[in-house]
This record gives sequence, structure tokens and C-alpha cells, in this order.
Amino acid sequence: MVDQSKILYEDDEHQVIWFGWEDHEHESLVQSNQLLVINADNAYLFDPGGAYIFSEVASEVAKYIPLSQIRYILATHQDPDVLSSITLWLKSTNARLLVSRLWIRFVSHFGFSDNSRLVSIEDHGKQIRLDGNEYIKLLPAHFLHSEGNFCFYDTRSKILFTGDIGAAVFPKGERYLEVSDWETHVSYMEGFHKRYMGNNLALRRWIQSVRHLEISSIVPQHGAIIPKEMVPQFFAWLEQLECGTDLLDQIYDNALA
Ligand SMILES: [Fe+2]
Ligand SMILES: [Fe+2]
Repeated sequence: MVDQSKILYEDDEHQVIWFGWEDHEHESLVQSNQLLVINADNAYLFDPGGAYIFSEVASEVAKYIPLSQIRYILATHQDPDVLSSITLWLKSTNARLLVSRLWIRFVSHFGFSDNSRLVSIEDHGKQIRLDGNEYIKLLPAHFLHSEGNFCFYDTRSKILFTGDIGAAVFPKGERYLEVSDWETHVSYMEGFHKRYMGNNLALRRWIQSVRHLEISSIVPQHGAIIPKEMVPQFFAWLEQLECGTDLLDQIYDNALA
């Protein structure tokens, strides 16, 4: 069994911690990764997860930092596996939620009424300034898969959190923390990406915009960490992948008429 949390990067004033949650009893719930960046006295939580996992994630996060020190919760997009815990997080912290402008009027349907704690991300992105002139950059990744979608780049650790891009679904008992066998891992990513990603054009545009970054590893919201040496293979695989609307005919082939 893989750990519940692990420090991925650490220096005197900056830590990046991975939290991995999976349900061993209910196979219907998709495994998810959460990331916490701690910089000086502030913390930033990426894709906090579903309501179902709130108590486990919150108690694990609290081992590293008091919840009151979480300044922002960042959401790559609006899905329930990303954000259905948000009402509980807003109650337990003073944090504000950063989410795409497209979803700002939808997320309160998860069950809260205080919109003063919502901050919208414009389509072009946003950056949060940290101590020491470092940033968390919220970079556009629209239509991958959500219409208003972002990935998050921490300039200090150089870790890129990609939300559903790079997600993998493991066969039962096959979960691992970091990718080592690329071909096997592609087989765990392929089905998800073919159906959930918008199309190849969106993938290529995104890769064009992030390829120049120095990336130490990629952490997706589901599945395993892609190490630095496999990032070029990952981009090359995505660049040739037909997905989403590229496969419309296949998707409609068996449609009821
Ligand atoms: Fe999603
Ligand atoms: Fe997801």
C-alpha cells in the first residue's frame, strides 16, 4: 500500500507535500491526489477532493500545518472529485477559493452561500506571489478536460500539477506512487484521456504553452507522479493522441437513432 502523504520537495522556507487518497472498499470512487505547498507561514492546497474524503485529507494536512494557515485553495476545474469537499474546507479554514471564472457561479451549488471567499481566475491565468520572489502560476489548460481549466506551476520546486491531464486509472492492487514503466503506465492513462480530454488541438496548444517550463515532475490529480526524465515522453504521447471530439464518429457509431 502506498503512503497517505509524502514530502516531494523541501528547503528552508518551502515544502511541497503530496497526499494520496484511495478507497479500498468502494471501487466506484476514483483515487485522487492532493498537493499542498507550504511557503513561509502560508499554505496553498491544490484540488482538495471529494466531500467523502475530507476528514482523512484534513487530518493528514493538519500533521504538516494548522488548517488556519491555508491561504488559498486552488481548483483546476469544477468537478465533484476536485471540489465537492469545498464547503467543509471553507468552514474549517479562512482560505479563499480560486477557480475559473466559468465556474464561479456554479461552485456554490456544492453547498455554501458566502461568495466573498471566491476568487475567479480569468482565462489567461493568474499568479500568486510567494516569499523570495517565487510564484505559484495558474496556467491555462482549457478543454483539458474542463472548458475553464488550469494547471499549477510552483516556481520554487518546479513541480507542475496538471489536474486531470496525466490521470491514470490503476487496475485493482496495481497502484504506485511514481511511474517507472512507461508503456504500462500509458495503458492506464489512455482510456481516460481519449474520452475525457477535449481534442488533440487543445492538447497541442497546452503543450506549446508549458513546454518551455523547467519541470522537476508532473503530479496529476489521479494516478502517479511522472518524473522529470519521462516528461518529454509524456508530452510526445499527448501530442499524437486523438481524443474527445477527434473521435466523435467512434463515439456516435453505436448511438440510438
Ligand atoms: Fe475532471
Ligand atoms: Fe479528476
